Amino acid sequence: KKVVLAYSGGLDTSAIIPWLKENYDCEVVAFVADVGQGDAELEGVEAKALASGASACYIADLKEELVADYIFPTLKTGAVYEGKYLLGTSMARPIIAKAQVACALEVGADALCHGCTGKGNDQVRFESCFAALAPQLKVIAPWREWDMRSREDLLNYLAERNIPCSASLEKIYSRDANAWHISTEGGVLEETWNQPNEHCWAWTKDPEEAPDAAELVSVKVEHGQIVAVDGEAMSPYNALVYLNKKGIEHGVGRIDIVENRMVGMKSRGCYETPGGTIMMEALRAVEQLVLDKECFDFRQTIGLKFSHLVYDGRWFTPLCQSLLAAADVIAQDVNGEVVLKLYKGNVTAVQKRSDNSLYSEEFATFGEDEVYDQSHAEGFIRLYSLASRIRALNEQKK
Ligand code: ARG
Ligand code: SIN
Repeated sequence: KKVVLAYSGGLDTSAIIPWLKENYDCEVVAFVADVGQGDAELEGVEAKALASGASACYIADLKEELVADYIFPTLKTGAVYEGKYLLGTSMARPIIAKAQVACALEVGADALCHGCTGKGNDQVRFESCFAALAPQLKVIAPWREWDMRSREDLLNYLAERNIPCSASLEKIYSRDANAWHISTEGGVLEETWNQPNEHCWAWTKDPEEAPDAAELVSVKVEHGQIVAVDGEAMSPYNALVYLNKKGIEHGVGRIDIVENRMVGMKSRGCYETPGGTIMMEALRAVEQLVLDKECFDFRQTIGLKFSHLVYDGRWFTPLCQSLLAAADVIAQDVNGEVVLKLYKGNVTAVQKRSDNSLYSEEFATFGEDEVYDQSHAEGFIRLYSLASRIRALNEQKK
């Protein structure tokens, strides 16, 4: 029997390898997704997997695909979970699951395994994607089965088996990183009255210590997608890397949120999405110029619904695909250029223009104009408010 494990090189998934072999009498193949979590996490990951007893380790470079096929489409919908969360972890789960399934089919595995706890969202996301892509494969979730509960348990488990491990007992925070974001949960954040301290922020500069001089960055948007930054054409991933650097320097994209998990509990997290926050602002600025009132309204409806679908692990569903298609159509005219100002944790679109702009200075001016006859508004308002008028007249008759 063969199991493909979504392996990160961390303590949890390192302990899972021997545990699977002992409890399922199987061969374990480690699958590592490079979603832009950074070289520090990926360095030596294959050697680690093999040292823990994996029979093989495959590393898939998913960075471009993550940004181009998951993040950019989600960005078009404007999805933001519970008003704040830019869904960094949520968007990465479907692509990891998909690549893991592909790996499992290639090596002829019977089962898939992940290191998510039984208390979180990630287990639901992984397994919902597995169900949609390879329902025939068995799923193993060790955290819901074994009786180990702490890092100490896991370290002891590895030590008893003479498996080398560089993890320390004190790892305070639970983190998840990819090209788009890093999340930090646990530790002092578990008490909502505690302010996040400097250790809760992993990537971004403290806005209070960010440069006193603002910096401008320009972004070009075509069909709701960022295609160039500061005058240079860039792939989605490269644009993100570029804007991350700028955002990090200016402390852009920090949020501190208490969110509703799927499993019913609330959790508190500090998330950093520096480049993503800039991209979001840029796209919304072009939309302001291009989308009429009803399109804008509907795009918001799509975004709200989509935020839940992504958060809830429903990527590979017909509904998800249909909302993406709708967002695509709405984004067809979303072309333009935006200049954004980065300053001490903030990003503001300070210049924007579009060939498809519906904004007309001629019409909107507070000065004199030749194109708009103000007397037309009277009839419009008369009919627009007719129902209110009739209702009020009825009241007066009573
Ligand atoms: N709460 C966020 C989410 O559900 C972040 C989860 C972080 N995951 C992790 N394995 N540390 O999307
Ligand atoms: C986990 O519990 O594995 C991480 C947090 C989450 O999935 O929400």
